[in-house]
Amino acid sequence: MAKALVVGGGGREHALAWKLAQSDRINTVFVAPGNAGTAHENGVENIAIAANDVDQLCEFAQLERVNLTVIGPEGPLVEGIVDRFTEKGLRCLGPSGKAAQLEGSKSFAKDFLQRHNIPTAEHQVFSKSTSAFTWLESNEPPFVIKADGLAAGKGVIITHELKEAKQAITQILEEQRFGAAGNQVVIEQFLSGEEVSYICLVSGKEVLPLATSQDHKARDEGDQGPNTGGMGAYSPAPIVDTSLNQRILKQVIEPTVNGLASEGIPYTGFLYAGLMIGEDNVPRVLEFNCRLGDPETQPILMRLNSDLAILCDAVLDGHIADIDVTWDKRCSLGVVMASAGYPDHYDIGLPINGLDRPEADTIKVFHAGTNDRDGQVLTSGGRVLCVTALGSDIESARESVYSTIKTIHWPGSFWRADIGHRALARQKTEHK
Ligand code: AMP
Ligand code: GLY
Repeated sequence: MAKALVVGGGGREHALAWKLAQSDRINTVFVAPGNAGTAHENGVENIAIAANDVDQLCEFAQLERVNLTVIGPEGPLVEGIVDRFTEKGLRCLGPSGKAAQLEGSKSFAKDFLQRHNIPTAEHQVFSKSTSAFTWLESNEPPFVIKADGLAAGKGVIITHELKEAKQAITQILEEQRFGAAGNQVVIEQFLSGEEVSYICLVSGKEVLPLATSQDHKARDEGDQGPNTGGMGAYSPAPIVDTSLNQRILKQVIEPTVNGLASEGIPYTGFLYAGLMIGEDNVPRVLEFNCRLGDPETQPILMRLNSDLAILCDAVLDGHIADIDVTWDKRCSLGVVMASAGYPDHYDIGLPINGLDRPEADTIKVFHAGTNDRDGQVLTSGGRVLCVTALGSDIESARESVYSTIKTIHWPGSFWRADIGHRALARQKTEHK
């Protein structure tokens, strides 16, 4: 029986650990550093090593003879954790540091997309604010401004105001609001439409698409307010019908995977294309992530009937095209419960009540920013929980989630009450 290691401590990693622990191939899942949710999961054990401490993680995996490591967040992937594990003969699922540049550098990703004729917004890259200002002054809003590097989902500013656009540029390039991630800034054409999270497992040139999903990145209802890591998600995404699915594969995923391979940086692991589907139905790439989405993973893995460890092993063995994956036909939906003030400043250390509930097959409370002090679960982050449910349709999954949320409390908790609104609107028009 084998041991697995999940690197990270958010809701995505709780879902990964929970699913891997169900595998017949695995008897222990370590999570570094994990959270209170993974601490209480059967067959799962937290290890006090930070997700970006590549040296210690490597040492731990060697010492414990870990058979499979799955990396949750982008930070260690961009740092090259997979290269380090592989050098030591350890099986680690994720892209190499070079391939992870697809997420680690927006200018790398945009140049790559252009080179391979993959649909995306037009863009410019600037490293001096004066030249960025000149460009802004001769173009029309809305302006989409992005820090080049990793900025935890906060490095994108969209505005109609020239003044605000200039401020954003000054903050990124001059005031180093995102540190070295802001050595360059990308200004992009604004795209309208509906967003889709398209996530695949990739092994060299082979691709296995996961169930489709959509998330809500804005903090407030009606998709308003500042961008967050994601306030809720559901699967499947009703907009992705068979024909759109084919177009996404042919126009985005295959050219990306083949393009990387042809440039000598073959991709392994989860590949997430954030897409905008415009009125012309063309899938345009907003961003790439070199990992699973959070919170998309929670509803996606709720629907996965197959053994996740078998899928991960197949990717590492280089053959996934022939793997049979089965998904629950039901829909799933997850809503993030967050700390007051998120995505800016928030308090931590607040006691959470209402978590003692009997386990149910159709509802799962995934933890993100939580820790355990003497048996009391406390908040420890901005996104704290992701309450996820399966239902015969989006509406029933959503009802289960919101009735569960009502029973969970801590001071200042908030959540969006409209997760899934696009899917519901689409179902209503389709049924007319
Ligand atoms: P990114 O991190 O690049 O995905 O950007 C975060 C969010 O900003 C996306 O999920 C979109 O909601 C929005 N966004 C990014 N780029 C654009 C664009 N070119 N046009 C419209 N919205 C965008
Ligand atoms: N939910 C969006 C992300 O994980 O980047």
